[in-house]
Amino acid sequence: MSNDALAWIEDELAQLDAAGLRTRIRTIDSPMDARVTIGGQRLLNFCANNYLGLANHPRLRDAAKRAIDAFGIGPGAVRTIAGTMSLHLELEQKLAEFKHAEACITFQSGFTANLATVPALMGDGDLIFSDELNHASIIDACRLSKARTIRYAHNDVDDLRRKLAAHGEFRRRLIVSDGVFSMDGDIAPLDKLCEIAEAHGAMLMVDDAHGEGVLGRGGRGIVDHFGLHGRVDIEVGTLSKAFGVVGGLVAGKKPIIDWLRQRGRPFLFSSAMTVPDVAACIEAVNILAESDELVARLWENARILREGMQSLGFDTGHSQTPIVPLMLGEAPLAQEFSRHLFARGLFAMAIGYPTVPMGKARIRVMNSAAHSPADLEEALDIFATVGKELKVI
Ligand SMILES: Cc1ncc(COP(=O)(O)O)c(C=O)c1O
Repeated sequence: MSNDALAWIEDELAQLDAAGLRTRIRTIDSPMDARVTIGGQRLLNFCANNYLGLANHPRLRDAAKRAIDAFGIGPGAVRTIAGTMSLHLELEQKLAEFKHAEACITFQSGFTANLATVPALMGDGDLIFSDELNHASIIDACRLSKARTIRYAHNDVDDLRRKLAAHGEFRRRLIVSDGVFSMDGDIAPLDKLCEIAEAHGAMLMVDDAHGEGVLGRGGRGIVDHFGLHGRVDIEVGTLSKAFGVVGGLVAGKKPIIDWLRQRGRPFLFSSAMTVPDVAACIEAVNILAESDELVARLWENARILREGMQSLGFDTGHSQTPIVPLMLGEAPLAQEFSRHLFARGLFAMAIGYPTVPMGKARIRVMNSAAHSPADLEEALDIFATVGKELKVI
């Protein structure tokens, strides 16, 4: 392709620059932890989804090393073609037990778990009801399925009820929602969604990427949080956030999991998680099953940080979880805020359009059990200084 044919991309990138919307990715030269090294500087880290500090946990590191010695690195191919290693089955069984689910299947990521699930269950002639703020991977999964998708207003169960009542004639209907909304930190009313799904004979799917290891008893997830075991058809999760590794999972009723092993396209056409990933995930589940200490510390840290921000005068939106958005409005201000934080030794990302709506740019402050009380105190001082510098508080 000639350079002229690519000129439109240069134009688009220049427009992103001009609007302050171009993503710049920092290079990290250390493990993902409470502090990270970027460009030789040690910074407090408030970006990562490393909720429990497991991304650099010694037990996960050891488990990965031991598994490499026993099983090597790669799975060799797709599981249906090259066979499945006992490690993958062990992880699935442990996850099902931990979450009190009938069965569980793992995928390469939370994104592919969604891409596998919705098209395997829904198709042409079916109808999906999707929260308007659902994650991009759910949106893409709905598109791939070829089912018709109707968006309902965010967490608005009355809007959902009206829309379900108006569309009763379809072959299969699915309600799908994020569990915890990743940019605002609010929680889906899963108990009400469950009642509605049961009343209308629809299937219910929740993507608990940000609730896995965070919500519920000892981090058992949103279904546990609401006490809805056996009533939510499909619970998608990720192993890439609180579990500290990478990978995705679907937990739920056995026939659905069996079906995903037959028809989940990322399961059938893409290789499985690698050996060290799986072994580290097994150890993460072991740690969570043994004690709720990390989960409790995460929530306590989040409380201290949220209350501290609020008493400084910041707008922290509607968060109910350790995701604390610092609402700033326009994207250039959020980017400037993030640069000032960085200069003072704190790494927290500005989030703008299209990840959040125009005019709702923010700093997304991610709490972790890895932060010490001194880290939190230092962070609040830095936020206060930058907030005053930029006249936000
Ligand atoms: C709601 C939701 N679903 C899925 C994903 C994707 O998870 P993963 O990073 O494991 O692909 C994310 C991650 O950002 C998410 O927030």
